[in-house]
Amino acid sequence: MRTVLLVALMMSLSALAAGDKSKGAVLFKKCISCHGKDGMGKKSQNAPMIAGQYDWYIVSQVKAIQGKERWNENSKKMYPFVKKLEETEIQDLAAYISSMKLKK
Ligand code: HEC
Repeated sequence: MRTVLLVALMMSLSALAAGDKSKGAVLFKKCISCHGKDGMGKKSQNAPMIAGQYDWYIVSQVKAIQGKERWNENSKKMYPFVKKLEETEIQDLAAYISSMKLKK
């Protein structure tokens, strides 16, 4: 019984920590021009594929670009699109992007 409760608690905690995929899908519209609607990236934009990437890595890199810690000619182009994102929005985006299937 205790184990069941513990597992249920852990599952609800991880559900809390993870973002909301359907909200992420809406937010992702801002990212399509560079990363493509399938998240496979675009060479012409120097934008890498991000589909299927670990959610924690997506969160860390979006925050690094937002905070200008990852700052170069390419990341500068992305900055205007992420500068106003809130923590929960970044989590939602990461949940959606990490769930996307690779196309090659
Ligand atoms: C104007 C084009 C552009 C838009 C719009 C854009 N990005 Fe990017 N993104 C880039 C480029 C270019 C890079 C590579 C940056 C570098 O070289 O450091 C990048 C890098 C990333 C990375 C890091 C990938 C890695 O492997 O390290 C993530 C995650 C990411 N973008 C997510 C997003 C999300 C989420 C959005 C929408 C909110 C978005 N991007 C919108 C151009 C864009």
